[in-house]
Amino acid sequence: MLGRSDVESGVAGAETEALLPTTRPEVDIPSPKSPKFSKSCNQEPKFGFLHVSAAFILGSIACLVAQYALCGTGCFTRPPISSNRHGSEENKVTVLAPPYVGSTEVHKFPPSKPTNAYPSLFPSNVGYAGGTPTGAEAAVIETAPAYPLHTGQCNHQLLRPTELGGETRKEGDSTKHGKGKKKSKFNLFHSWGNLSPWFSIGRGKFGVDSGPETPETCRVTGLHFLHRHGARYPTAWASYGGPANFGTKLHRDPASWNAKGSLDFLNDWTYKLGEELLTPFGRQQLYDLGISMRMKYGFLLQNFTEKNTIPVFRTESQDRMLASAMNFAIGFFGYPFDGQYQQSITIEAKGFNNTLAPYKTCPNASDKSKASRGDWYIARWAEIYLKDAQKRLQKDLDGLDLSIQDVYTMQQLCPYETVALGYSKFCELFTEEEWDGFDYALDLQFWYGSAFGSPVARTQGVGWLQEFIARLTHTPIQTHNSSTNSTLNDNPVTFPLGQSLYVDATHEVVVLNIITALNLTTFAETGPLPYTHIPENRSFKVAELAPFATNLQFQLLECASVPGPQIRIIINDGVAPLTGIKGCPKQKDGMCPLSTFIEAQKEIISEVDWEWDCHV
Ligand SMILES: *[C@@H]1O[C@H](CO)[C@@H](O)[C@H](O)[C@H]1NC(C)=O
Ligand SMILES: *[C@@H]1O[C@H](CO)[C@@H](O)[C@H](O)[C@H]1NC(C)=O
Ligand SMILES: *[C@@H]1O[C@H](CO)[C@@H](O)[C@H](O)[C@H]1NC(C)=O
Ligand SMILES: *[C@@H]1O[C@H](CO)[C@@H](O)[C@H](O)[C@H]1NC(C)=O
Ligand SMILES: *[C@@H]1O[C@H](CO)[C@@H](O)[C@H](O)[C@H]1NC(C)=O
Ligand SMILES: *[C@@H]1O[C@H](CO)[C@@H](O)[C@H](O)[C@H]1NC(C)=O
Ligand SMILES: *[C@@H]1O[C@H](CO)[C@@H](O)[C@H](O)[C@H]1NC(C)=O
Repeated sequence: MLGRSDVESGVAGAETEALLPTTRPEVDIPSPKSPKFSKSCNQEPKFGFLHVSAAFILGSIACLVAQYALCGTGCFTRPPISSNRHGSEENKVTVLAPPYVGSTEVHKFPPSKPTNAYPSLFPSNVGYAGGTPTGAEAAVIETAPAYPLHTGQCNHQLLRPTELGGETRKEGDSTKHGKGKKKSKFNLFHSWGNLSPWFSIGRGKFGVDSGPETPETCRVTGLHFLHRHGARYPTAWASYGGPANFGTKLHRDPASWNAKGSLDFLNDWTYKLGEELLTPFGRQQLYDLGISMRMKYGFLLQNFTEKNTIPVFRTESQDRMLASAMNFAIGFFGYPFDGQYQQSITIEAKGFNNTLAPYKTCPNASDKSKASRGDWYIARWAEIYLKDAQKRLQKDLDGLDLSIQDVYTMQQLCPYETVALGYSKFCELFTEEEWDGFDYALDLQFWYGSAFGSPVARTQGVGWLQEFIARLTHTPIQTHNSSTNSTLNDNPVTFPLGQSLYVDATHEVVVLNIITALNLTTFAETGPLPYTHIPENRSFKVAELAPFATNLQFQLLECASVPGPQIRIIINDGVAPLTGIKGCPKQKDGMCPLSTFIEAQKEIISEVDWEWDCHV
């Protein structure tokens, strides 16, 4: 049951057969007033307690609703979490518990047979809803004077340390960096590569001095939205690092070592993380994203009303993918979302054609030695940037040798514990410079594993590209010669063409495959990435391109000032230059004529040879 999984690419099959939306370990979370921890951020508070509780509650409701709704239509094979108080055997509770392979402390919730569960006494619909007149849809992208940005990590959920590597500092401070050479606006939560929670990219950061809001004289006619799942536990497999391995090493013979000083906390520390599942914070990310997209683009739903249709959103069967889509839907449509859209759940498993999980049919990509190409680079880079940290931390640990890989794993524990448990003592062990090094280690991993430095990245992105072009041109896919699935793609119900709104959910590796396939070469400008040092001003940063809940807005526009339909690509609220795409002009708002864009993408599709890249 336990598959091998790359970063998260599910190299062979990372299905965790659990239906638990997330587990909620009861951990001893110190009060936010505890001296070493500050409030999660000093940026403007965005949401109060009520909002947050609502997110949690609605999140759980969403999952329950989804289970019932989907099981009802037979498209969902796993049994719902229900209880069988008065029930017959067929109504039996079936909760498949996750494997918890590496956890040294586990809290199983919900119990498999709760004694007080009487669903019949808690009907889900009792009527008497009161008045329900609706108003008009929001259109922030077109109407608001400014575009609301997302600080990402805040929401008062995640705590950060006030000390790093033994030095007290204030978050967001412009601090002397490293050996005093340069100044930086350091943000710990933005230094975690693919493990960063997504945040809005500053205007101009990608080289286009424009924002996501509709450019002057233009209006938005459609949106293709592509996003990643929210924060998750570590994946089941890692060829370098792997937080569970550190827990195992530490707990193999606890009597044989003793920690002191900065590592004193290890004496009582347990490894509390599960595997693969969305965390409560991850649930909130998608719920928030759903709300935010509804407020920005809700007006696009009018097209569906006019045509008497509802949208089709897509995600995959993997637990965190489905849970992410459900949380997005509860945010976007509200409770209950039944009848407002149709959720396509494509199968993510070996041998199934799936553009959102292309590695499942591309042996060369899932070949472990290739998938861990990036890890080869990390291992070399870690020897350099973690040398001092290894010596420093070893001083506080008697009886157990810390390897460089162990120290890298301790760094991984900071983001993983933070997004799962709310904070992590591991964060404060490292300096700003070491966090920059960690961020770069992940850039190396993905550059060589999933993006411009990978021989199979473009190939894996091309299936989604074919679908995208089919949607843009209202023309069915002609040849199924990549990861596309003719059963789903050739059916206008499961794969509608020419809609004004699409939402697809996938993994960070696939987002990077697609960015590579699209030929967004701006992000490749400072490559190939060396493992000897961090290049200055590198344009490829995984924390910016593929963090948790990363999201791409493909905006379709019509403008009075520019002839013909236009397209723009906005990555995490940063407008991406399209000038690497053949024929796309340098345009101040980052727009390219749709026909030019389509022509270039067709050329890319025709150049890619799936059979050769994946099998030969
Ligand atoms: C296409 O997708 C459907 C639905 O998920 C699945 O049943 C079928 O096996 C897939 N086809 C291929 C060739 O993978
Ligand atoms: C693809 O896999 C085959 C068989 O495992 C191997 O011989 C070939 O070199 C691989 N091709 C690439 C481009 O990695
Ligand atoms: C699955 O993908 C393969 C390889 O591209 C293709 O030959 C086959 O027709 C596809 N099957 C379906 C049902 O789309
Ligand atoms: C959606 O509706 C708007 C307003 O009527 C229209 O301008 C736009 O072209 C429509 N988009 C699609 C994809 O039909
Ligand atoms: C990096 O960017 C800064 C500020 O834009 C610039 O001054 C510097 O020359 C750049 N360095 C390189 C190596 O491109
Ligand atoms: C893709 O990018 C490369 C390198 O910048 C460029 O030479 C090529 O023309 C581009 N191709 C397309 C179809 O955009
Ligand atoms: C796959 O089909 C597309 C047309 O849909 C074509 O442009 C491309 O050349 C084909 N690729 C291969 C390897 O046959």
